[in-house]
Amino acid sequence: MDYKKHITEKLNIEGLDKNQLYGFIETPPNTDMGDFALPCFKLAKIMRRPPVKIAEDLANGFIADEFISDCTAVNGYLNFKINRDGYAFSLLKEVLSLGDKYGSDNVGAGKTVCIDYSSINIAKPFHIGHLSTTVIGSALCKIFKFLGYKVVGINHLGDYGTQFGKLIVAFKRWSSEEAVLKDRLKELTRIYVKYHDEAKLDPSMDDEARHYFKLIEDGDKESNKLFELFKKITLEEVDKIYKLLNVTFDSYAGESFYNDKMAPVVSELKDKGLIKISDGASIVDLEEYGMPPCLILKSDGSTLYATRDIAAAVYRKNTYDFDKCLYVVAYQQNLHFKQFFKVLELMGKEWAKDMVHVAYGMVSLESGSMSTRSGNVVLLEDVLNTTIEKAYKVIEEKNPDLADKEKVAKAVGTGAVIFGALCNNKIKDIVFSYDRVLSFEGETCPYVQYTVARCNSVIAKCGQLGDYNGVQMNADEYEVISVLGKFSDVVKASAEKYEPSYVTRYALDLATAFNKFYIGCKIACEDENLKNFRLAITKAVKITLTNALTLLGIDTVEQM
Ligand code: ARG
Repeated sequence: MDYKKHITEKLNIEGLDKNQLYGFIETPPNTDMGDFALPCFKLAKIMRRPPVKIAEDLANGFIADEFISDCTAVNGYLNFKINRDGYAFSLLKEVLSLGDKYGSDNVGAGKTVCIDYSSINIAKPFHIGHLSTTVIGSALCKIFKFLGYKVVGINHLGDYGTQFGKLIVAFKRWSSEEAVLKDRLKELTRIYVKYHDEAKLDPSMDDEARHYFKLIEDGDKESNKLFELFKKITLEEVDKIYKLLNVTFDSYAGESFYNDKMAPVVSELKDKGLIKISDGASIVDLEEYGMPPCLILKSDGSTLYATRDIAAAVYRKNTYDFDKCLYVVAYQQNLHFKQFFKVLELMGKEWAKDMVHVAYGMVSLESGSMSTRSGNVVLLEDVLNTTIEKAYKVIEEKNPDLADKEKVAKAVGTGAVIFGALCNNKIKDIVFSYDRVLSFEGETCPYVQYTVARCNSVIAKCGQLGDYNGVQMNADEYEVISVLGKFSDVVKASAEKYEPSYVTRYALDLATAFNKFYIGCKIACEDENLKNFRLAITKAVKITLTNALTLLGIDTVEQM
């Protein structure tokens, strides 16, 4: 039952179409006043009356029915009370029958969204700085899919640049295939750091590096073989982390993929008169738009990060015909995205308006926490292993007989890290604390996962769900029902604002409402009718929490 739709059908407002009216109807944060509300100031322009008067007139003309029991005007708002029994009954039926589809929608049917996220750099360590892009991007992929969109998840690999020439020089001097295969990314980092130390003393190394990079570009067999080795090692290493975080991609087309796709773009820029030469370099002047110029070609003719991004955007449009193309990249790159989006617009690409930079804040580790350091970066793998180990220790202490301890520790440990990164508005900087994310109290993943496990034990205890009807609901029960009913709106809003944290906050709200109900109401009670009603609530909460966590890439556990 779509109450908002029902309300729009019952209100006739001249000059306002039903879809618009639908969009105006809100669900108030506090259900004491009503279950739905229409802020009448939004109608003042069309109806040419003050909001208070509009609300009164509409309330007077409203006739209650089996779904809406009451409609009152309060301070320019029209508040609707629904027939709560009827609502609870139909909602629970809907959640239980839809199961893992509950909350999904087909608003995205026929539309495609490209999501560029994680986008790691080859031969560089996968550190805590990559956590946000990876988990925000992955959650957005799952959320958009849930809403019926076709999603193309893209890992725009950083696999191009002189650093690969440097790496070959370093490899030839201080490493070997065996060493790289054995110590993997650690070995690549070691020789890369060493290169920088040594090149300070011997600048001729940089010429050698440029030479090798040129060889890679020219298709030299041996240099490319080494480059492929570095790439393979990096991808194998990050894949372990992607597996832990339930992250997948549809494309790994990285920067080097666009090597042969930039020339046409550069000619187009020239043909359209957008290129200026400045100190020998080709640029697009953006002064008029209050930005520094966008660099297209260096004076030696080589391309840049922005050149590749412009070519990639054109390629994505041609290949996927996206409705939106998102870039989940830290706010440090704000200018880069503004610049190249502007260049696309100046090229006359009407779809430049569909490009979105989904910016997020920084993650740092609480000072003083224990962390394995390689160079001076904190590896994401170490963070995940630490939380998994810590989760395992807690299980050993509190519930040593638990079945499948390792699996539970993995779900709790990785879940804590993902949830911690998705808990706040994405633009905020985060200070990561092991103790905080692993706590069972407060706004944490273990708290939500524990609530799911609690639902499970209630379900196991109560047995088969039987029929129920006509229950006089108390406030705790109704609060759970009311939060349950908001899920699909939350999912839609999180997609609209590119904000997975809405889903995270929602999971916390639902867990809190359920735990209050669990403490306040005996579920396995004598009264069969009441027991079945409460059991249905419990099952619906389990389904909805599981769906919410799944959208975030977090596993649930039966017991913990
Ligand atoms: N590899 C880049 C970095 O680490 C991020 C790439 C983001 N995606 C893009 N299309 N520019 O900074």
